Amino acid sequence: MEQATTERASTRTREKHFVALLRDLPPGSRKIVSIQGRSIGVFNIDGQFYALKNSCPHQGAPLCAGRIKGTRVATKPFEYVYARENEIIKCPWHGWEFEISTGRSIFNPHRVRVQTYDVTVEAQEEPDPSIEMYPVTVEEGVVMVHV
Ligand code: FES
Repeated sequence: MEQATTERASTRTREKHFVALLRDLPPGSRKIVSIQGRSIGVFNIDGQFYALKNSCPHQGAPLCAGRIKGTRVATKPFEYVYARENEIIKCPWHGWEFEISTGRSIFNPHRVRVQTYDVTVEAQEEPDPSIEMYPVTVEEGVVMVHV
């Protein structure tokens, strides 16, 4: 008997979290952040931003710390070429490869994948949230910081 599967749209509202200033995440770079107990890698691949859960589905390695590379692509039977430079991340433990833009594995893209997250780039309207500021006063010739 065949079972029908349905996909339900997620009704969960996702909150935005600061990752980095745009200038601190140039093309080819990544930043691993911890958000609500989850380790997430955010990547800038040629100006496009992607985020992956920093946990390999094989045995839980810190996937996002792996090497960013290309992979071999079949062009015809028994012929492969190296392509897709900077689109693939290789797990640092056993070498499984994943497409950064989708989280899909290279060897079994429909069954083995890593969680992805949305990334947005927004205008910086508020002071840099990575810099904590404290009030400073000068009292009778002495500079005081209020922490
Ligand atoms: S833990 Fe990533 S390939 Fe094994």
